[in-house]
Amino acid sequence: MMTRWAVTVALLLIVGVAAGKDNLHVEYEWREMDFKYDNPDQRWTAIEQGAFKPTSVIPFGLEVYRHRLFVTLPRWRSGVPASLAYLDLNDNSTKMPALMPFPSWVAHNLNDTEPELVSPFRVKADQCGRLWVLDSRISGVLEQTKLYGTAQLLVYDIHNDDLLRRYILPAGQSKQSSFFANLAVEDGDCENTYAYMADLGSPGLVVYSWRDQESWRVQHHFFHPDPLAGNFSINGIEFQWDDGVYGLALSKPQMDGSATLYFHPLTSTMEFSVNTTVLRNKTLATSGDIFREFKILGSRGTDAQAGAQCLDPETGVLFYALPNQNALGCWQTTNNYKMQDRVYASDNMLIFPSDVKVDHKRRLWVLSNQLQSFIYDELYGGSINFRILSASVKDAIERTSCEPPKKLPELISKLGEVIKTNIGFKSSDSSSTPSSGSGSTSGSAAWSLSLSVLLLGSAISWLL
Ligand SMILES: *[C@@H]1O[C@H](CO)[C@@H](O)[C@H](O)[C@H]1NC(C)=O
Ligand SMILES: *[C@@H]1O[C@H](CO)[C@@H](O)[C@H](O)[C@H]1NC(C)=O
Ligand SMILES: *[C@@H]1O[C@H](CO)[C@@H](O)[C@H](O)[C@H]1NC(C)=O
Ligand SMILES: *[C@@H]1O[C@H](CO)[C@@H](O)[C@H](O)[C@H]1NC(C)=O
Ligand SMILES: *[C@@H]1O[C@H](CO)[C@@H](O)[C@H](O)[C@H]1NC(C)=O
Repeated sequence: MMTRWAVTVALLLIVGVAAGKDNLHVEYEWREMDFKYDNPDQRWTAIEQGAFKPTSVIPFGLEVYRHRLFVTLPRWRSGVPASLAYLDLNDNSTKMPALMPFPSWVAHNLNDTEPELVSPFRVKADQCGRLWVLDSRISGVLEQTKLYGTAQLLVYDIHNDDLLRRYILPAGQSKQSSFFANLAVEDGDCENTYAYMADLGSPGLVVYSWRDQESWRVQHHFFHPDPLAGNFSINGIEFQWDDGVYGLALSKPQMDGSATLYFHPLTSTMEFSVNTTVLRNKTLATSGDIFREFKILGSRGTDAQAGAQCLDPETGVLFYALPNQNALGCWQTTNNYKMQDRVYASDNMLIFPSDVKVDHKRRLWVLSNQLQSFIYDELYGGSINFRILSASVKDAIERTSCEPPKKLPELISKLGEVIKTNIGFKSSDSSSTPSSGSGSTSGSAAWSLSLSVLLLGSAISWLL
């Protein structure tokens, strides 16, 4: 009897595990992206003149700071009037908001001899109120490629949108086929901040020091694509990619100010790491000795090539996009990298997860954009093509193996709740149906007993 109940409860718990995942919810969705022009005439003029072709605009990177959600809109094709824009999180009047250009329309004017912004893929808001924008400065990669110069780093003050700094990468740090799409910012110290820029085209990492206003390029074999991991297949579209270092994420800083940079090439199923003390030391980082300093953390498994990634500093959970699986995965970095799991997966709602971020309020945000259709097929304007999903980090990792171990007080209160509910259930049960009273009482007793045993068992295993 006892064991049968325990088995039932265990089964219920397993069902509960499955139901606890996929906790993300769609916050915004668009068929096509639109912009807030000063008036309707300007919008129509832009469309008539080809400055704004809605079918050319695809959201790629995202970032959240206070009440604004920033979106990058790379210029893969002509007709993207602004390549960085935002929406107001306080305006909940629509799930399909039109975007405001950031920092202004003028900054995106490609007629300028040296446009302020050409085609950024990722942006990062730091804890010091600055927005770091990595601009590839390459437009029209799917049509007529035009280079406006080497990639640049733009740093804005997010409180007034002023441009604080513009740093153009020195020619020697950008190679023939360089393509800078990904960025991480080590902001433990607002004065001594470092930016890490990943070159996926000519695999390498460029380190930028905010204080010294200089950068250096780091080489390592782990930045290269794995030739055996180049097959991609997404919702019926098959293609080969051979992109190098791509996803970057930083751990919480240690007491000594150092952190761990997690990274992976896009064409790879492996995850690697390096201590930022190594990267920040220009002498060491640019010497041959650096090869010893990198670590292999392990594989994510078959078909688990990963795109963007980010880390929640409180739990140490690394979130990564899995384009081949229309999914978001997680990796618990505080537990010897043993625990990986699926946070969310959907062949409808998450077709090509393109970016993932955890904001300062510890909310998780994921952007999906059907990039494979945009590049190799076409997007059908009649259906939802782009989505932004969100959840608190806590809800997102609930009942996944990335969830941090439960603390004892939490467990005791949970245990108390369960016992209370069971007693309440028993008394109402026996009063409404007195004839079956004895049977149900012993049944409930067995329930709460087996539940307690089970919870105690899991408490012990969690604590160990
Ligand atoms: C928008 O949010 C505010 C504050 O949270 C709320 O009072 C209001 O009812 C919401 N409006 C809509 C249209 O959901
Ligand atoms: C850029 O120049 C072209 C050709 O002179 C003109 O048609 C277009 O309106 C200009 N675009 C902007 C945004 O000023
Ligand atoms: C990649 O796909 C091609 C074509 O479908 C196939 O022939 C090849 O074996 C695949 N390679 C790997 C490493 O899976
Ligand atoms: C990085 O290396 C330094 C110096 O060797 C060490 O003190 C620190 O603990 C390391 N940090 C991390 C995050 O591993
Ligand atoms: C940087 O690395 C070099 C070479 O390993 C070492 O000699 C030097 O002490 C390091 N500098 C700092 C500031 O840690």
